[in-house]
Amino acid sequence: MSDIVLGIETSCDDTAVALVNSNGQVLSSVISSQIDVHNAYGGIYPEFAARAHILSILPTVNEALLRANIKPEQIEAIGVTRGPGLISSLLVGINTAVGLGLGWNKKVIGINHLRGHLRSADLEQQRVEYPAIILLVSGGHTFLAYMESSVNIKLLGSTRDDSVGETYDKVGRMLGLDYPGGPAVDRLASKGNPSISFPRPLLKTGLEFSFSGLKSSVSRYIDSCKKPVYEDIAASFVQSVMEILIKKSHLALKSYPAKSFVIVGGVAASPQLRAEAAKLSQELNIQLSLPPIHWSTDNAAMIALATFDYLNLSMFKEPIPELQLTISDF
Ligand code: KG4
Ligand code: ZN
Repeated sequence: MSDIVLGIETSCDDTAVALVNSNGQVLSSVISSQIDVHNAYGGIYPEFAARAHILSILPTVNEALLRANIKPEQIEAIGVTRGPGLISSLLVGINTAVGLGLGWNKKVIGINHLRGHLRSADLEQQRVEYPAIILLVSGGHTFLAYMESSVNIKLLGSTRDDSVGETYDKVGRMLGLDYPGGPAVDRLASKGNPSISFPRPLLKTGLEFSFSGLKSSVSRYIDSCKKPVYEDIAASFVQSVMEILIKKSHLALKSYPAKSFVIVGGVAASPQLRAEAAKLSQELNIQLSLPPIHWSTDNAAMIALATFDYLNLSMFKEPIPELQLTISDF
């Protein structure tokens, strides 16, 4: 049996294909970005996203095979994101995977997008040490989880409203920045002073998050201020977000016997979050595992790596992982 999985990820606005082996080594990873398609609208239009996926999916598969110098017969299986995500975008990836699977006579496995993110810290670097506390911060989700192994996940607390990434994107739009707002807000924040005191909702209670109050408060501040200094607003907003994420992570790390602290998802690309997480892990003397920035945001390599978990489990005839989970949308 070969040791290579072809991963396909089309849950949102990137068409991504990768070839990965079971050690987490990435043989190729190709991402066709749609930022130019959506930038003019300040967000993602599902219909346009699906059209762009249709145009780019097969060329992206071919490019990934060419770059890795791999032939379809050398692949063990195809892993494809089956959700959560935009349904019309997901369908393009799923239908392509099923078609390729039939044509090439390969097993096709549907992978949860969040499972992909959760495994992204194992791509091309030292393996995550379990049990781990994992903070997932993406455009669609925000939660803390306790992972006993790469497949056993216990949800500790998630957001009651907006995700962190969504909040960055909305604040970015308020500040007149291009989509996606995250990297642009970070850059602006690095030039400002965190002089404005924005709220830190749910800071003192449990492991759940809330970000909609913070978002509204930034909006009210901009509306009420005669001469808003955008750099200071961005810096103050980022400081509030950091305080919330770090305080909650600290509480989770104190409450569970973890060997490592892992942060995944698009917002894990934030330099401020990386710096704060490094301080926290030093203070608690715990190993910090962060995926490199290019594996933090959406990619297909993480989907391919998560596919090996499914292949290994089905080999040993254990129950499929979904049945053991406590989070409803896994
Ligand atoms: O994980 P991801 O690529 O897609 C989802 O699964 O949602 O996350 C995308 C999110 C966007 O909201 C984007 O603004 C945010 O990640 N993001 C960042 C940074 N880079 C991407 N947020 C803060 N700082 C960044 N450098
Ligand atoms: Zn994602």
